[in-house]
Amino acid sequence: MNKIYVWDLPTRLFHWSLVALVAFQWLSSELEGDFLDYHLLGGYAILALVVFRLLWGFVGGQHARFGNFLRGVGPTLDYARALRANAAPPYLGHNPLGGWMIVALLLTLTLQGTTGLFASDDVMTHGPLRGLVSDQAGEMLTDLHKGCFNVLMTLVLVHVASIVAHRLFKKEDLVRPMLTGYKDSGAEASKKQ
Ligand code: HEM
Repeated sequence: MNKIYVWDLPTRLFHWSLVALVAFQWLSSELEGDFLDYHLLGGYAILALVVFRLLWGFVGGQHARFGNFLRGVGPTLDYARALRANAAPPYLGHNPLGGWMIVALLLTLTLQGTTGLFASDDVMTHGPLRGLVSDQAGEMLTDLHKGCFNVLMTLVLVHVASIVAHRLFKKEDLVRPMLTGYKDSGAEASKKQ
């Protein structure tokens, strides 16, 4: 069976490093104490990954580019309706709904990372920019940093559930291509970009 190269190496490295780092951020925030020093480092790494992905969305491989997978409201609603009617066309890259989920994930990660720069545990760990804002603003940004994590986890839950749904209902394995870069070409000739 022919294979089609869909996810370039930087996109795959970005994805799995992000997954590992988000897991580490959760763990290090739960463990607290000295682990918060590493939590700060993990936060910088996530922000760097997000900046990289935003740039890669303009200069990266075909399917990594925002222009390739971001669709307007009309086509996204058409796709959602087709999905409900079990008639959604397959896509080689991200489908229109998946594309907007990626925007939501990247925006939430940006908010999570930037609020972390101003957050504090009120004991000994402070984000590097904490001194730039008042105590009141610092507390508000710390609350936002904590609340944002719940939003991120909700998005991740929907993200993973939709990948499981693809496997169960459309018999499409999306995880392997995100590991290897390749999709089987089977009926792919008819797939949308
Ligand atoms: C912290 C958890 C996660 C985050 C923040 C996350 C974030 C993302 C992002 C931003 C993308 C877009 C990739 C790109 O174009 O650069 C993506 C795609 C993808 N993710 Fe995740 N992800 C997470 C967990 C997972 C897990 C656990 C799996 C495996 C079960 C997974 C499987 C995939 C797959 C298969 C795609 C490609 C979807 C497609 O074919 O359109 N993700 N993820």
